[in-house]
Formats: sequence, structure tokens, C-alpha cells
Amino acid sequence: MSGELPTLRWGIVGTGLISSWFVHDLALDREDAKARHIIQAIGSSSVDKGKAFVEKHLPGQSPTIYGSYEGIYADANVDIVYIGTPHAFHKQNCLDAINAGKHVLCEKSFALNAKEAQTVFDAAKAKGVFVMEAMWTRFFPLTRTIQSLLHKEKAIGSIHRIFCDFAMDQNIASLGPESRLKNPALGAGTLLDTGVYCVTWGLLGSDAEIGEKAQKPEIIAKQTLVDGVDIATSAVLLYPNGRQAILTSSSIVKTKSVFCTIQGTEGYIDIEGYTSTPVSFTVYSSKVGSSKKYESKGPGMGFYWEADAVALDIAAGKTQSEIMPWAETIRVLGILDEIRRQGGARFPQDETA
Ligand SMILES: NC(=O)c1ccc[n+]([C@@H]2O[C@H](COP(=O)([O-])OP(=O)(O)OC[C@H]3O[C@@H](n4cnc5c(N)ncnc54)[C@H](OP(=O)(O)O)[C@@H]3O)[C@@H](O)[C@H]2O)c1
Repeated sequence: MSGELPTLRWGIVGTGLISSWFVHDLALDREDAKARHIIQAIGSSSVDKGKAFVEKHLPGQSPTIYGSYEGIYADANVDIVYIGTPHAFHKQNCLDAINAGKHVLCEKSFALNAKEAQTVFDAAKAKGVFVMEAMWTRFFPLTRTIQSLLHKEKAIGSIHRIFCDFAMDQNIASLGPESRLKNPALGAGTLLDTGVYCVTWGLLGSDAEIGEKAQKPEIIAKQTLVDGVDIATSAVLLYPNGRQAILTSSSIVKTKSVFCTIQGTEGYIDIEGYTSTPVSFTVYSSKVGSSKKYESKGPGMGFYWEADAVALDIAAGKTQSEIMPWAETIRVLGILDEIRRQGGARFPQDETA
């Protein structure tokens, strides 16, 4: 059966937390898998680190291990490069992979700012390779169901407000200055780390369209800064039709289990789990006075939904995803840029991008 599925051979760049989650999920046995994923090679700052990563997260597998990222780009057996490094390295990692003719799936936030992202997409267009921001939340079946209920079935009538929060107590004070959560040169701050998910839900909840066709909201934002890094961000997206998205992130406190509420003229939806990882949602209809709960089904964390979609797109000869197209990454980063312009968080690379 798996022989009929499209196959992708992945080269993993960076052996940190997110790469460990990603490879774990891709290795899971799934009856409804739409593609076959092979972890072909691991690229790390050191071979020892790469070996330890394989022993811990890919037991029984033997991918090629490189003590550099260049090994991945040069490996003829790698079809696609997964980039799991801090935000500040995404642009160069993407460009290096693209120049080597590889397809790319790059972690969120895709770049430090919209200008960097545009540079990457221009390179991808010139080379004709597939590139996508790994905004995995958009690929969850639950997320797709919510979008359909909101925008096609109008389950809560006309949407009026969206509240979304992503807060984690990251004990920032205890971290060293080189932590990606503390160093502005690595893209530190809640906005690119967690706030990007709130902007995502704000956009998905507000508008049926994505990318260039979507409406452009006005943005009002404030940030709490410590040593120039935001430990809290609050933003309001105000749409031309009066709809508001109220979006907050923090590295000091924790989000409640309902991380997002979408209110309409005929009811509301509460979404539960983590802001990146919805596990259930409930639709309350004020029209019929009833509620219905939807729950996620699937093993692991859910990274395979985006990975399967990427494999199907590449097999179909596409260079962009319809669910997370280039214009949508640019739109999101444009909003993050404006929030930082108003809030005051700057990255040294902003001046040179
Ligand atoms: N989708 C999600 O739910 C999710 C969750 C967490 C993070 N992320 C995203 O994934 C990316 C990485 O986050 P993470 O939490 O996995 O980070 P992490 O644990 O610190 O790992 C990042 C890896 O990047 C490599 N790296 C290269 N230069 C580095 C430098 N100067 N400082 C630190 N690491 C460096 C290192 O791998 P080697 O030494 O092996 O080269 C390191 O292990 C970020 O873009 C983040 O936003 C996404």
C-alpha cells in the first residue's frame, strides 16, 4: 500500500526541540497516511549532537549524519530540507537549500520580517522549488473544520470578535543571553515565537480568504519590552467591516485551556488545547440553544498533516501550498512587522534585510 503513496526523503537542519517533535511524528505508523516520509539525513553543528539526536528520537533508524548543514544541501538523496533553527537563521538556511535545488519546509516564524521572506520566495521562484512556512496549525483537520463552519456554513452567524492568546511561562530570567528566547539577534520575543499563532487564528477566524485575496486589517499594538525583547504583546486587528481580532502573547503566564473564542451574531466557538495545537472545539449556537463538541483524532502531535500536504503538493508539481501560500507568509510577517513597529521590539537585522 505504502508503495503507491508519494515518498519524501527529508534532510533535517538543526537538532533542537522542534526537529525532535517533527521526526517523531513522521516516524509514526498511520493507517490514513497520505504520503511516506523517510528521515534521510540529519544536519547539525556537530556529528556527536546528530548521533545523540538519532539515538534518542529515531531509534532503529540510520539516517546519514552530517556535522554541518552543507552536508544536507549537497546530499543527492535528500528531496526536501526541514529547517528547525532559530528565526534569525531561516533566511540563510532557506537560501542555501534552494540554491542547492532542494524543496524546503521552514519552521515559523518563517523569517525575521517580511522583506527577508520575500528574498527567499524570489529565490524559490527563480529555482522552481517548493517552499512553505511550517505553520502546521493550519493543516489540522480541526482547524479546517472550524474554517468551514465559520465561513461556509455560517454556524455562528456573522463573525464579530475573535479573542486569541498564546502565553507560556518560559522562565526567561533564568536563560542565558544566547538563548533564542532572549537574544534579539536570534529573533527573540513572544511575537515571533507564540504571537504568530494568535495572528494566524485572528486571520483564519476573520476572513474566508488567505493570501493576496484577503482583507487588510488596521493594526493597533503595544508590547512590554525587557532589554528590547517583548515579554508580552497585545494587538487588535480591525477589519474594514468592523470585525475585531484581539490577540495576546506572553512569556510570563500561561494561557487558559480555552485559548481562542470566536463570537458571532448567532453563537460562539471555544477552541481548546494549545494555541499551536488545537485538541477540541465547541460550537454554541444561540439560535437553536445547543452545543456540539468536536475532538481531534490522530496519534502524536500532528506534524504529519502538514508533511503529508507538502508531499502531495510536490508530487503534483506545485511550488506553493494553497493552505499556506507565499503571500500568506508575507501577509502574516507584514502584520508582525507593524506590531513590532508600534510596540518597539527591533531586531538588528531589520536595518539590513
Ligand atoms: N511548530 C512548533 O510548534 C514549534 C515549537 C517550537 C519551536 N518552533 C520553531 O522552531 C524553531 C527552532 O526552535 P526550537 O525551540 O526547536 O529551538 P532549539 O531547541 O534552541 O533548537 C534550535 C537548533 O538550531 C540549531 N542552531 C543553529 N545555530 C544556533 C544558535 N546560534 N543558537 C541556537 N541554536 C542554533 C541548533 O541545532 P544544531 O546544533 O544541531 O545545529 C539548535 O539545536 C524556531 O523557529 C521556533 O519558532 C516551532
